[in-house]
Amino acid sequence: MVAEQDFPVLDTVPFRVTEPTRIPVQRYYDPEFFRLENERFWPHVWQMACRLEEIPEVGDWVEYENLGQSVIVVRTNDGIKAYHNACRHRGVKLANGAGNCTARGFSCPFHGWRWNMEGENTFVFGRQIFREEDLAADDIKLVKCRVETWGGCAFVNFDDNAPPLLDTLGDATTRLDSRRKGELKVDWWYSAVLPTNWKLAMEAFMESYHVMATHPQLHAVTTAERRQYGADAPDRPPLGPTASSREYLDIAVEHMVKLQEGMGGMITPWEVEIAKKIHAEMDDIPDDIQAASGAFYGRLWREIEAHAKATGRPSFDLIETAKTVPFKAVEYIFPNYFLLPMYSGMSSYRVRPLTEETCLFEIWSLAFYPEDEERPIPVAPTPTSHDDPGYPEIPKQDYSNLPLQQKGLHAKGFEYMRLSPQIEGMISNYQRVIDGFLGGLDPERLARASSQTCSGFDAPLFDLGF
Ligand code: FES
Ligand SMILES: [Fe+2]
Repeated sequence: MVAEQDFPVLDTVPFRVTEPTRIPVQRYYDPEFFRLENERFWPHVWQMACRLEEIPEVGDWVEYENLGQSVIVVRTNDGIKAYHNACRHRGVKLANGAGNCTARGFSCPFHGWRWNMEGENTFVFGRQIFREEDLAADDIKLVKCRVETWGGCAFVNFDDNAPPLLDTLGDATTRLDSRRKGELKVDWWYSAVLPTNWKLAMEAFMESYHVMATHPQLHAVTTAERRQYGADAPDRPPLGPTASSREYLDIAVEHMVKLQEGMGGMITPWEVEIAKKIHAEMDDIPDDIQAASGAFYGRLWREIEAHAKATGRPSFDLIETAKTVPFKAVEYIFPNYFLLPMYSGMSSYRVRPLTEETCLFEIWSLAFYPEDEERPIPVAPTPTSHDDPGYPEIPKQDYSNLPLQQKGLHAKGFEYMRLSPQIEGMISNYQRVIDGFLGGLDPERLARASSQTCSGFDAPLFDLGF
């Protein structure tokens, strides 16, 4: 590790992570820490502002808001543009929600000034009553916000000197591009307010260590595998050490059904149907579980690709891609967006802070649809409570821990979380990058460190160079 004294500026960051496996609890509720994130972190990072499907036609726009900053993202004749959402007269917020500005532009409700999708002012009511120099065309343009696109999404950054988006995302883009991430379409979109700090909500999805206790129903297959290979198996395996290959495959299909129903998005209904069909047709199952598993998944992957081709969906070679660019179970896109690939579809998550101890948590289920199929334009849902019974089972299990954890962090004598450096390293990695922003390290170094954190689930601790 690089010596701490090389970056004395980091010493000015309150509650910073000095011991990489220990995360000080104040980072999850202290008002000063939250204020610093708002001032030195969020305005300098690339924030996933919308899915491009939300604005399919020229003139379509959508509002993105985070920590009181609102931005309009609009599709124009020459690409996606973004503007800070304030009237150039007396500052009224111009656009709310989503719409199309082709016919009427963006019109201020207060005195009726108007702008087109290029951000140029097209109307000032009673122009002659203003000083001409206060109405200079360049000066009353909407203020541009940096915007870049990747993976079917628009990302905004309030910092004109920040390195380009792709410089901050590392290899995650290669892994996801090879799975045609940018061509996935929304199946559903959920949104919930969680009674926790935004970082706590993210961290619930950064390691598999919680699966045994939080999602026992998903634990079955991994436990069966561990038993077979003699690894350190927990106490409540669903299969005995003499489980047959048939029993293993029964559980593998059951696991897919649970993921499809409980998680949506990660696995599509047609992938489950294909798995069930293969399971029913396989009569010549090898005795060795590893061989049985190889035969089953090999056929499943080939048939998913064939089904996509036959139904006019985007497709890729799942077997070859798994060999050449294997994905991580959670692909983290710094700082607050992540994706869970599985076969051809995936689910994706975005977390935004609301207050020190609340956040907005969204989930999109994404799948490939036939290229000529008209899909509905996704519309942001009204956020529900974290314990809404309509939520899919698995995120609900994750959510159920979070209010308890947020509460526990305030307990007297609890000073820091203690992390496994082997599989909970990702939590420390991105938290230390936040410290780099709060300490004002140079943007290139921060971009490199950010891209390192886009490493995925169960990552170990990394040396970030500061
Ligand atoms: S504040 Fe917008 S036109 Fe006056
Ligand atoms: Fe989970």
